[in-house]
Amino acid sequence: MRSLIVLSALLTLASAGALQLRQTTACNNSPDLCSKSYSEITHLGAHNSPFLRDASTRFSTSGNHYFNTTIQLSAGVRMLTGQVHRSNGAWHLCHSSCDLLDAGLLSEWLGEIKTWMDANPSDVVSILLVNADKASASDLAAEFEKSGITEYKYTPPSVTLPQITWPTLQELVSANTRLMTFVAPLYPTQIDSTNSYLMDEFTFVFETGFENIEPDDFTCMADRPSALRGQTTGAVSTGRMPLQNHFLYDTQLFGIEAPDEANVTSTNAPAEKPGNMGDAAKTCRAEWGKAPVFILVDFFDQGPALATIDELNGITDPVGRTPAPAKDAKVSGASSARALPKGLVDLVKQFKNGATPNLGAWIWAGADWSKTFGGWDSTGGGSG
Ligand SMILES: *[C@@H]1O[C@H](CO)[C@@H](O)[C@H](O)[C@H]1NC(C)=O
Ligand SMILES: *[C@@H]1O[C@H](CO)[C@@H](O)[C@H](O)[C@H]1NC(C)=O
Repeated sequence: MRSLIVLSALLTLASAGALQLRQTTACNNSPDLCSKSYSEITHLGAHNSPFLRDASTRFSTSGNHYFNTTIQLSAGVRMLTGQVHRSNGAWHLCHSSCDLLDAGLLSEWLGEIKTWMDANPSDVVSILLVNADKASASDLAAEFEKSGITEYKYTPPSVTLPQITWPTLQELVSANTRLMTFVAPLYPTQIDSTNSYLMDEFTFVFETGFENIEPDDFTCMADRPSALRGQTTGAVSTGRMPLQNHFLYDTQLFGIEAPDEANVTSTNAPAEKPGNMGDAAKTCRAEWGKAPVFILVDFFDQGPALATIDELNGITDPVGRTPAPAKDAKVSGASSARALPKGLVDLVKQFKNGATPNLGAWIWAGADWSKTFGGWDSTGGGSG
């Protein structure tokens, strides 16, 4: 009898221990996500993560976020996108052109992500690089190795076929293969086995359109890869993971486009407001028969964008997040400041030196043109 009591006490202790273990171990901010497959949950993505609208860029209107990648990750962002460009013989992260907004070396940014992953051992992070200047797979791999982040690389079983079954977050955490790396596109798309953690984005993912201006423009239609454009049902049935682009461009004077800051609290809202991401995501989930795996936003801390993500994931009590601080009051007044955006200053400089920057470069200067012209007058810069 006595031994039975002891045994039952031990069992109670054991199950309490198990319970405690389950409750204290969170994967991507929730214990409920650990047993879910990577492709079964929705990850919040910071579109153009390293391009900031803060003091470091003189509040450039080309900036997509008020806070850097580390703060994004700590707040709950789990996908980071960026554009890779060649500048002065090195691989940089730049917004359309390194003359406009240069966020520094790719390897340093990867190092920043690695540092965060070192400190957060039960989080799975995805990187999506837009390969603007056709870096080869081995060029990119050299940058990844330099940063040390390859310590966490996940390598898919096949680099040529969409993956139908992805590991659970717990499996990725336990194996310490917590870094998913997508490249759009990879050159060459067939790469040697040592670098096969670099996944060609459109082999594994399809995207909705990204050039949206009005809140009504968002749709769930497959847009890329181009071979699947308009064939949404087909895109889903290939097993590619859906990526929903949910950010707006603001068309300014002369058709110049910049990340739309003015409407972002609506765009990133969970419901009701024009173009809100919550309703958009649920519409796509109904159409696809599966929730978006990634949703990319600008100004990730607004909305709040994470409310939609938590709702799609069925999470009511996320843990371990550090919300981004309140944005700098200076941000909103940035485009009316007397100083021109740095990118534009650089473009004007090039133009005066006889170069002819292409239209895209001007577009991405993202200046508030009506105010800019006033700025030119007040700084006596002439009309060049
Ligand atoms: C990110 O931003 C915070 C707040 O401005 C700053 O303290 C930190 O040093 C930044 N981290 C990096 C890697 O730039
Ligand atoms: C977007 O912002 C602009 C500028 O503030 C405003 O005029 C417009 O009404 C907004 N659109 C929506 C849909 O909120």
